[in-house]
Amino acid sequence: MKLLVTGGAGFIGSAFVRLILDLREPPAIVNLDKLTYAGNLENLDPIASRSGYRFVRGDICDAPLVDALIQEERPDAMIHFAAESHVDRSILSPSPVIETNLRGTFTLLEAARQNHVPRFVHVSTDEVYGSVPRPLEADENFPLNPSSPYSASKAGSDLLARAYFTTYRVPVIVTRASNNYGPYQFPEKLLPLMISNALEGRPLPVYGDGQQIRDWLYVDDHCRAIHAALEKGREGEIYNIGGSRSLPNIEVIRKILAATGAPETLIRYVEDRPGHDRRYALSSAKIMKETGWAPQVSFEDGLAHTIEWYQRNTGWVARVKSEEYRNYYARNYESRSEHIEPAS
Ligand code: NAD
Ligand code: DAU
Repeated sequence: MKLLVTGGAGFIGSAFVRLILDLREPPAIVNLDKLTYAGNLENLDPIASRSGYRFVRGDICDAPLVDALIQEERPDAMIHFAAESHVDRSILSPSPVIETNLRGTFTLLEAARQNHVPRFVHVSTDEVYGSVPRPLEADENFPLNPSSPYSASKAGSDLLARAYFTTYRVPVIVTRASNNYGPYQFPEKLLPLMISNALEGRPLPVYGDGQQIRDWLYVDDHCRAIHAALEKGREGEIYNIGGSRSLPNIEVIRKILAATGAPETLIRYVEDRPGHDRRYALSSAKIMKETGWAPQVSFEDGLAHTIEWYQRNTGWVARVKSEEYRNYYARNYESRSEHIEPAS
């Protein structure tokens, strides 16, 4: 068994590669990654010298490269993680998001079609459903209603993947997961940003009133679900993957403050994200029923482990907070006006 993984130097892709290579009979893995600001080979240090693992630096939009790689490696399956994955960056600069998430996915699907790749797992997100009104939970038939350039690009790439199944019978499976957290997450996303700011005594920027709800999924649980979908999922199907733990952002932030011992005075309510989705909520009943998958890590355990990882890996954090990161941080946060917490 050989897997071609895209985006395997990012947060979730690298967790998947580490997890899969620790299986009793691991498949060979070829990891194709462009190493954008979010890709980091340090994330793969624990497995980099394993036999059966190969890293290739390249762009998923580069059709000749993708084609040649597939012809050379003849993978049994492709697991497609590579993306521009951050909503705030997609609002500031949509162009690379459209290029990678749409053209890149198209390039991979087309190469899979031409080379008859036997399985293609397209890793997507619950953001494609947009804000889900209480008390509903989105199942796989819930209408698509993306709000940001990021989520619209993911919805578009999901539809392309589905079209490649319907039209060409490319054996595609689409997975849609909720908010991931865990070690090695780039500190632009809510949890690692708040954890590292709290540990460094910096302000914690809460968008709007902080009452937006996200469903938290520990990254290894997500990777186990993708593996279950790869092994037991049905071609042409979509599988939602939720963490079964919905929390308002401000509660997550208060838990981080409590765990790190940082003071609540670090909280700053700042101007909201444009088009900010109020609530994500997923039903994962289908993947649970069809594959037997269920999340194993409670939010409390996962958060404690994650905070401990960021406390132990200050060198990793310092290295990823490069000039590029500092420029992004200034662009995204410095012009945001502060306001006082609205009365609840
Ligand atoms: P990430 O930003 O941490 O990593 C993305 C990886 O893709 C990086 O290694 C980057 O170098 C690589 N990449 C980007 N553009 C590329 C290109 N053109 N060619 C080759 N490689 C490229 O992202 P993540 O959080 O690990 O997310 C991985 C996937 O999971 C994405 O498709 C994302 O939409 C999806 N997803 C993420 C979450 C989440 O909470 N983070 C939840 C659900 C789904
Ligand atoms: O739901 C799955 C999605 O989760 C993935 O598809 C995306 O790749 C991933 O980035 C994530 O998107 P979100 O927009 O939900 O995650 P983010 O960590 O950016 O924000 C989580 C919530 O926290 C959201 O309501 C915005 C809020 N937030 C975020 C940041 C970075 C803040 O209040 N302040 C912040 O500084």
